[in-house]
Amino acid sequence: MIDTYVSPSELKRLLSALLVVGTFIVLVALFAFLIVPGMRNVNTPEASVAVDAPQGETGWLDPTDYPATARVVLPPIDPKTVMTPNPELMARGKALFVQNCVTCHGPEGKGDGPGGAGLNPKPRNFTQQAGWTNGYRIENIYKTLDEGVKGSGMVSYNYLSKKDRMALVHVVQSLGAFDHGPENPEALEALAKLFASAGEVIPDKIPVPFAEQKLEAEDQATPALADASTHPLLRGAILDPARAAQTLAGIPRWREDDKAFALAVSASLPGNGFSPAVATYAPERWKALQSALSGR
Ligand code: HEC
Repeated sequence: MIDTYVSPSELKRLLSALLVVGTFIVLVALFAFLIVPGMRNVNTPEASVAVDAPQGETGWLDPTDYPATARVVLPPIDPKTVMTPNPELMARGKALFVQNCVTCHGPEGKGDGPGGAGLNPKPRNFTQQAGWTNGYRIENIYKTLDEGVKGSGMVSYNYLSKKDRMALVHVVQSLGAFDHGPENPEALEALAKLFASAGEVIPDKIPVPFAEQKLEAEDQATPALADASTHPLLRGAILDPARAAQTLAGIPRWREDDKAFALAVSASLPGNGFSPAVATYAPERWKALQSALSGR
C-alpha cells in the first residue's frame, strides 16, 4: 500500500534515517535521566550517620566548643596506679573513650566510627594485631596519645592528663583480644619515671566562641563610635571609627581626664581615626567630644 507513495529504496532510506534519529533520542534520554543525575551524586557523601554529641569536659565534636575549665595543678602520679589496669582506671578510661574516640574508632574499637569514614588512613582497628604505625604496646599507645600520628586524623590528646591517657591506653589494649606483650622494660621504666617525677598543669581552657565574644565585647567598649556618623559632634570629629576606637584603647583614663584625652588625641594626629580639625577645638568642645564618646 505504502509503496504507492514511496519507492522501496526511498522507504529504506527513510527507515534508516528514522533509526538514526531514534537512537539519538534514546541516547540523549539516557544521558539526561541516568548519567547526569548519576554524575551529580558522585561526590555527595552517603547520608551521614547520626552521632550522639558526646558530653563531658572533653570530646566535643567541635573541638572549639568545649566548656570553659579553670587551670588545674595535678601532683605526680604513683606509677603503680597507672602502669597496670585497675577497675577505677578502666572505668575512667571507658568514659573517656566514649567521649573522645568512639566517633572515629567505633564503640568496639574496630575503626568503624562514622567520623572515620572519610579519613585516609582509616582509624586503627584495635581488634587486629597487624598494621599499627606506632605499635600496640603500652609505651607505643602512650606515644600515639601524646603526639598523635603525623599525616593522619589521629591528633595529639596531650591536653588530657597523663593518668587519663594511661587509662585510655589500657582501654585500647582491652579492645584487642591478641597478646599485647612483651613490653619493653626500659620504655616502661622511663614512662613510670615520667609519671613519678613531676606533677602537671592542665591550663585554663576557654572555648573559642567564648573568647571571640570577649574580644567583641572589648571592641564595643566605645559603643558611641558605632553611630559616629549620625551624631553631629562625632561626625565632624571622627574620620575612621575603628581606628579611633584603637586610639582610645591606647589612652589610659581618657574617659576621666579630658586634658589627657585632648593631648593624646592631638599628639597622634593625623591617622589616628580623628579628624585633624579636632586640633583646633576649644577645651569645652574637647569635653563635649569626650562625653559624647564615652556615651555620657
Ligand atoms: C578524628 C578521628 C579520630 C579520633 C577522634 C581518634 N582517632 Fe585514633 N586514630 C585515627 C586514625 C585515622 C588513626 C590511624 C593512624 C595511622 O594509620 O597510623 C588512628 C590511630 C590510633 C591508634 C593507633 C596508632 C598506631 O600505632 O597505629 C591509637 C592507639 C589510637 N588511634 C587511639 C585513639 C584514642 C585512644 C582516641 C581517643 C582519645 C582516638 N584514637 C581518637 C583517628 C582518630
